[in-house]
Amino acid sequence: MQTLTTKYRPQQLGDLCGQETITRTLTNAVKQKKIAPAYLFTGSKGTGKTSAARILAKSLNCLNSPQPTVTPCGNCSSCLAIEKSCSLDVTEIDAASHNGVDDARQLIERSSLAPVQGRYRIWILDESHCLTNQAMNALLKCLEEPPNNVVFILCTTEAHKLLPTIISRCQVLNFRSLSISAIVLKLSQIATDEEIDITEEALVAIARNAEGGLRDALGLLSQLSLLETLIHQSHVLEVSGEIAQPDLVAILQAVRAKDIFSLLKKSRELLDSGFTPEKIIASLIKVYHDLVIVAHSPKSVNLTSSALGHEQITQLAASVGYDRIIVGLEQLRVSSYQLKQAPQPNLWLEVCLLGLIQNLQVSPDSGHKNGHKNGTIAIAPHPEAIWNQVLAATTEKNRKMLSVAILTEISGNSATLSVPKKYLDKFNRLAEKIAQMLSKVCEVPIDLSIEESRA
Ligand SMILES: Nc1ncnc2c1ncn2[C@@H]1O[C@H](COP(=O)(O)OP(=O)(O)O)[C@@H](O)[C@H]1O
Ligand SMILES: [Mg+2]
Ligand SMILES: [Zn+2]
Repeated sequence: MQTLTTKYRPQQLGDLCGQETITRTLTNAVKQKKIAPAYLFTGSKGTGKTSAARILAKSLNCLNSPQPTVTPCGNCSSCLAIEKSCSLDVTEIDAASHNGVDDARQLIERSSLAPVQGRYRIWILDESHCLTNQAMNALLKCLEEPPNNVVFILCTTEAHKLLPTIISRCQVLNFRSLSISAIVLKLSQIATDEEIDITEEALVAIARNAEGGLRDALGLLSQLSLLETLIHQSHVLEVSGEIAQPDLVAILQAVRAKDIFSLLKKSRELLDSGFTPEKIIASLIKVYHDLVIVAHSPKSVNLTSSALGHEQITQLAASVGYDRIIVGLEQLRVSSYQLKQAPQPNLWLEVCLLGLIQNLQVSPDSGHKNGHKNGTIAIAPHPEAIWNQVLAATTEKNRKMLSVAILTEISGNSATLSVPKKYLDKFNRLAEKIAQMLSKVCEVPIDLSIEESRA
């Protein structure tokens, strides 16, 4: 079966979606026969660079037109050869897979030859940031004295890796990441043509997942179409490995309600069903990010990127409150960084989820406000969560003994452990050892004081 990406590869400049400026620039260039000797197509993956390069080649060389045309026929021997990458006049080099010294030599030797069949000799240098230094230098030589009727089209996702001297000799066209609505529009047209039954929410979920690239969006739609059923948002999330919407909402609601039990239960369920702590934090960051956006501009339907619907996000944003959202987002960012180093990421996940609850206990005018304006939020992890982590990391015998104590306070380098009277001596003897255990979990040296519990 032909994939949707190949089947719906744009064939003419007018078919490119979401790249209006580029379409206009190239259309005018072709119509006015003002073709630059070199173009640089940059932009993130799946936005149409390679497609546009082939379209431009066809437009310049189509044999069914006496001159360059914006409507190449797609059927003449030139158009067909370009499509199959076997044209004598159009050479496509994928530098990512094929970056030998030979290409550099070829470039120098052959780039100035007159076209065999068409009007132009065209070099499409795909993923051109991967060219070897020799190839880059050879290319630079060609660009310094561009031969007649030769056009270089460089495509790259990483233009900063090209020599500045090369870039300055190219006409640069920036391919934009496609908006959610542009992707949804394209997907729904294709779904109609292909008779794929899919809900609007599912289309939006695909578009969000694709992060601006149409290739990934079409790939996901192809894969989902094999389900041969009405495609819902939940299918999209499942196939793309995203956490389902009700689970994310449940976490946020538990955080808001300070419901530690439900929060930990939910996070364990997610871990059990195979999501990594990184994925869970990353999904929550997206949600918090959306909360920030919605809190700023309630109508920004297209700017949100998490799996949650706009209405849900708006409701949550209103009930959580702006200051708390900002602190939560910052905590999650720090956690996602710490998670990478944590020896036991699952436990650390719980620590930071509980930290979110604790943040919510901070009242908006308790001094944190000024802190986060400067970007210096003091992250105060939940003492209970830290103590649980110490308990979890030790032997069963130690755990039994240690669990009579409560970590009542931890901030910076000092911690206070509250212990029933009859165990005071024992804990005082062990204080240094316990401090070491805490240091390990917190990844900073800890001074431990032991006090008698009041109860
Ligand atoms: N702007 C676009 N308009 C229409 N289809 C696109 C666009 N960008 C990508 N596509 C789809 O994605 C596929 C891959 O696009 P491609 O041109 O190879 O992207 P890039 O080279 O930028 O990674 C195409 O075959 C097409 O189906
Ligand atoms: Mg490409
Ligand atoms: Zn043609």
